[in-house]
Amino acid sequence: MTNQIWNPQEYRKSADFVPEMGRAVIELLEPKAGERILDLGCGTGVLAKELAAAGCTVVGTDSSPEMVEAARTAGVDARLADAQTLKMDEKFDAVLSNDALHWMPDQYAVVRRVWNLLKPGGRFAAECGGEGCVRVIREGMKIALIKRGIDYKARNPWKFPELGTFSDILENQGFQVKFIARIDRPTPLVHGLRRWLEVFSASHTDGFTSEQKEAFYKEVEDYCRPMLYSEQNGWTADYVRLRFLAVKPEE
Ligand code: BEZ
Repeated sequence: MTNQIWNPQEYRKSADFVPEMGRAVIELLEPKAGERILDLGCGTGVLAKELAAAGCTVVGTDSSPEMVEAARTAGVDARLADAQTLKMDEKFDAVLSNDALHWMPDQYAVVRRVWNLLKPGGRFAAECGGEGCVRVIREGMKIALIKRGIDYKARNPWKFPELGTFSDILENQGFQVKFIARIDRPTPLVHGLRRWLEVFSASHTDGFTSEQKEAFYKEVEDYCRPMLYSEQNGWTADYVRLRFLAVKPEE
């Protein structure tokens, strides 16, 4: 059971670093005015709006109705869709995805869908959690869940791909991988680890009472503190990124 419920207001308040740090993927994409771009996992629509401001025609998709609603309110042409089963009649010059692919367990299916949506010569630029991402936090959550007799694997909604595996998925589909990198990106959690857990660990604590959540958050914090907290810097999450640019060859 991996029930991640998104709250766009909380996400904007506590995870504002996600689109902020996702600008690198826009730079990698090099969008040009007039291009049709699909933002896969558009969230609240921050990056989609930037692409639109650069003169692109942007469609966003997200599997969360709450996020689609928030993106639409922000003026984005956002559609409710799961990228693993996505089908559209339109074709795009480019597909961008920031911080979304690791929420999609069938990454082969996603790459296949993106391929089908791109015009020949189209680009796929993305960044997601990479192998080892938030290892310490995940370990803290795993210990706290095991203690409660809960199967961590069944609650874990994330798949952080290895560079080699993802590169193979892209190439086996037919993409030319122009750039791919695994990047350690320690990420300051200015609102603290607890707020991060509130936003991102909904499926781990699904069915918990508020008291049970409190105890869970505290145990995870206690586990992570020696590795991820300092008086000087506060909390820093152990993020690892996978960033890539792949091109569908011209026919
Ligand atoms: C993120 O979307 O920023 C994220 C969520 C869970 C684990 C790592 C990163």
